[in-house]
Amino acid sequence: MNDRMTLAAAALLSLSLLAPAPGASAGADDGLYRDLGGKQGIRNIVATLIPMVLADARIKDSFADSDMQHVGKRLEEQLCALAGGPCTYGGEPMKESHGGLKITNAQFNALTEDLQLAMEQHGVANAAGNRLVAKLAPMQREIVTK
Ligand code: HEM
Repeated sequence: MNDRMTLAAAALLSLSLLAPAPGASAGADDGLYRDLGGKQGIRNIVATLIPMVLADARIKDSFADSDMQHVGKRLEEQLCALAGGPCTYGGEPMKESHGGLKITNAQFNALTEDLQLAMEQHGVANAAGNRLVAKLAPMQREIVTK
């Protein structure tokens, strides 16, 4: 192989190393999605979370007029997408769905706590749970309005 060919081969090799694997969405890292147990794992976590939220005196009143089946479905999609899974969030932006609810920081933290308990109950490692919570943190600005 002459030098030029070696260079071309090296360039091609580095390009193929940089390119995402076929079928992967660009830049996606689905490690957290897998740590949550994939789609079924997330479904189980949300199925545990919803009744927990509805029994939590700190936040249950906010959900009095809501269709919890709908909220659960949207939450599944959102957590899946945030964790790098193959889902698209089809709900409202957080500012719109929460804007009128006068949610406090304490209530945001209460729901986060419930989510962490639900993840624990489904055997999600603490480190993975913390990674998901870290991804939710930027939403606090949009959800908390009081
Ligand atoms: C990590 C924090 C939170 C996340 C990720 C989250 C996520 C979501 C999602 C995905 C929806 C569905 C939006 C749609 O219908 O398109 C929703 C709706 C809702 N959320 Fe949250 N939420 C959070 C915190 C809270 C807190 C702290 C409260 C109240 C204490 C709350 C109250 C509600 C209510 C009442 C609805 C339904 C609104 C309606 O009926 O239209 N959320 N949330």
